[in-house]
Amino acid sequence: MKPGPWARIDLDALRANLAICRRAAPTSRIWAVIKANAYGHDLSACAAALADADGLAVARVQEAPGLRGIGIDRPILVLEGAMDDAELSIAIATRLELVVHAAWQAELIQAHLDRNPQPGSVRVWIKVDTGMGRLGLLPAQVEAMLGRLRRLGSALELAGLMTHLANADDPLHPMTAQQCEQARALADRFGLPLSVGNSAGILAHPAARTDWARPGIMLYGGSPLLDQTAADLGLKPVMTLASQLIAVRELPRGATVGYGSTYRCPEAMPVGVVAIGYGDGYPRHAPTGTPVLVRGQRAPLIGRVSMDMISVDLRAVPEAVAGDPVTLWGQGLPVEEVAAHVGTINYELLCRLSPRVRHVHVHQPGIVAQEPTHPAMHTHEAGA
Ligand SMILES: Cc1ncc(COP(=O)(O)O)c(C=O)c1O
Repeated sequence: MKPGPWARIDLDALRANLAICRRAAPTSRIWAVIKANAYGHDLSACAAALADADGLAVARVQEAPGLRGIGIDRPILVLEGAMDDAELSIAIATRLELVVHAAWQAELIQAHLDRNPQPGSVRVWIKVDTGMGRLGLLPAQVEAMLGRLRRLGSALELAGLMTHLANADDPLHPMTAQQCEQARALADRFGLPLSVGNSAGILAHPAARTDWARPGIMLYGGSPLLDQTAADLGLKPVMTLASQLIAVRELPRGATVGYGSTYRCPEAMPVGVVAIGYGDGYPRHAPTGTPVLVRGQRAPLIGRVSMDMISVDLRAVPEAVAGDPVTLWGQGLPVEEVAAHVGTINYELLCRLSPRVRHVHVHQPGIVAQEPTHPAMHTHEAGA
């Protein structure tokens, strides 16, 4: 028996979700966003599986060089750009495209190119803040930045203009159209390719389907929209987080469960203990009532989440025994539903798993993954 949680990563689902993205934005080129370890799905495996994307996007320089090391040759965009000269050197050596979101990043590039003049050594996207209020130049600053970057001559290649949407998850929010219009006007005025849409923009806002799109969560099968589920959108969950029952107990009426004794059994009842806890990245604030699947049937979490275990009410699954499989989210239990119970979003649950969770990649070319029908019988692992 090999206890403990595991994340099944379905790379066919990843590719199918990318195809949905392509159909939604057929004229856009696609930066597949794989930052934060591909939203917790394993950077290298996802980068390799996303061969149909035009490029890959990470948040930080440090996330990218390993991809070149495993033979990923496609364009890679660094959404936060280079932070210092050492990162800039790495970015140039590994052919990363860089976002420039502030004057100091242009200074960094200028200083580096003054010392190491090499034609075409840096490809740059100017980031403009059209309402997100996070990174980016104000629209009025774009012209000066362009002048400054163009003066660097042939060493620098201007790839385009990008902006990030603040409210695209709400299809009725008026700000999205304003952001798209402002970015489009700037791109047209300066004759630059434009990148706007994140997943929500691509799916719900035609004006965000620009020259380049930057989908993230939809690739992993998460819904980016407030009013539609992943299933509504045809998206398939890529990650299924699973574990198993390690104990099944009959507790008497009035018995309390877990730290703080926050749950009291209303009657004599079967209680299961599942091998997953906040030490694995399962959210500690998941309240009583958060659903899990035991043997494929819904059972509510009861009491507090511990570091390595949670307890579940097995009254709806009286046949459950120790060793039975448990699904925490994914196939059969949308991660959005768990996130709603916990008061967070699908993004956070997916990317917060701890290294203790084994990843099993299925449908990975070149690797015949023996899919476990039961976590306890799991024998083959491919990937992290
Ligand atoms: C700049 C930028 N572009 C694109 C994305 C992808 O967004 P989403 O996962 O909502 O598709 C992100 C993610 O946060 C981002 O920060």
